[in-house]
Order: sequence, then C-alpha cells, then structure tokens
Amino acid sequence: MKFLFITIFPEQIVQAAGHSILQRAQDAGLIEISTINPRDFTTDNHRSVDDTPFGGGAGMVFKPAPLVAAIRAAKEKLPLARVIALSPGGRTLNQKMVQDLAGAGRDLIFVCGHYEGFDERIFHWVDEKVSIGDYVLTGGELPALIITDAVSRFIPGVLGKSVSAEDDSFASGLLEYPQYTRPDVFEGLAVPEVLRNGDHGKIAAWRLKKSLLATYHLRRDLLSDEQIGMIEGTLHPKMCKTQRRFWEDLRQELAGESEVKEE
Ligand code: ADE
Repeated sequence: MKFLFITIFPEQIVQAAGHSILQRAQDAGLIEISTINPRDFTTDNHRSVDDTPFGGGAGMVFKPAPLVAAIRAAKEKLPLARVIALSPGGRTLNQKMVQDLAGAGRDLIFVCGHYEGFDERIFHWVDEKVSIGDYVLTGGELPALIITDAVSRFIPGVLGKSVSAEDDSFASGLLEYPQYTRPDVFEGLAVPEVLRNGDHGKIAAWRLKKSLLATYHLRRDLLSDEQIGMIEGTLHPKMCKTQRRFWEDLRQELAGESEVKEE
C-alpha cells in the first residue's frame, strides 16, 4: 500500500516513518511512503503557501492553488488513491475506520495543513476530512502518520508472522487486559497466579474478565447494553453454569474494587 503525504515538512514524515516496524515494512516493499511539497507549486519568490483570511481574523490560511496543484500531482502518481485531509473538523478516527481503510486496499494521499486551516475550496479535491481526536495540533503531519501507522498494522506481513492486529485491544471491542513477563515477583509485586499455572481456559477467562472490567471503568460506551447488564447483575435465566460463574466472579471482583475505593 502506498501513502503519499502532501506537506511543507517532508523531513518530518521521512524521519518519523524511518524507524522500527514502518521502516522494516518499507524495506520489505509492503508499504511505500513518499511526499510532495506544495511549495514546489508556488510561483512567487517567497514560495508562500499561506495568506490572510478573507473577513479578517487571526492567523493565516493555506492558499488553494499550491495545494490543489500538489493534489493533482499526487493523483497522477497514485490515480486510485483516496484523498484524506487532516483537520480537527473531520470525522474522528477509530479502529473501524482504520480497518476499513486497510481492507479497501486503496493507496492514501494525505493533505497536511498548517496555520489556521485550508481555504475551503480545496475540499472539492478531497474525499474525506479526518480528525484524530478532539484537540487541536499544530499541523496535519502527526495525524497523517498516526493513520499510516494504524493502517499499516493491518497489512499482511507488517507485524510479522506471530502477531495479528486482529487480536489486539480495540479489535475485540474491549480495552486490553494486563500483561506480565518475568520476573515472577518485581519489587514485591507478584504476577497473578492464574497466568503461571498454564490452564489456558482459565487464562482466557481471566483476561476477558479483566478486559471487561477495564472497559466498564474507562470506556463504558464501548460495551453493549447486554454486557453492562451482565456486569451489573442481570443474568439470562437459561445461561449455562460456567457462564453464570464467569459473570458472578466478575461481579464479585467489581464489588471488591469498590470496597477498596471506599476504605
Ligand atoms: N490538525 C490539527 N489538529 C488536528 C486533529 N486533531 N486531527 C487531524 N488534523 C489536525
């Protein structure tokens, strides 16, 4: 998959993508990262890409001409690519969008802004505006890199054979469970016994319970009403014994946690 960044700071992209997994993926030919600088499409001596906003106000606005020329050049290189403009006013990125972008397999062109935003007319050349969250950054390069990183994880081969992006936190719809490695005891803190006794069924149940509890505490919006109901005490009358025990254990743990908090 190819990722092309339209940016006045190409070094930032090359630098950030030149390490670790993204670098290895480039070396292996699994992803390709390139840049186009809108300054190369300016005609004035100062190579200026911004101007003051019509109607007044603080800050500068990205001029349409150099950006649209850069988008046209990018489309010539990647004719089938989806064009994404990074903007705090766009649709907020989530794991489903990431998986859809990866699954579609279309190359991506990122339009990275600066200053107070883009001249609105550039959006005629853009497929979609994407935000990475409800906060304002100094430019679109970091958001575009974040999308590239998250999407690349779903490209076969990028994470290596034994790791699958489908297995991780948000892919299950829940926050992740705690992980431990050696030593068994660190500064008096022991690894939970269940993880050391090799019973895979018990380990899976423990992990699911921890994931559900973490999600219940921090991101209740990710749980279904049915899951919340079961955590809070409404169990299906026909539920099998093992499942009933699972939810009862979970509820006990939840009650234990609130006792600790109240102490
Ligand atoms: N540019 C500035 N802030 C941004 C954000 N939160 N997401 C995407 N692009 C941005």
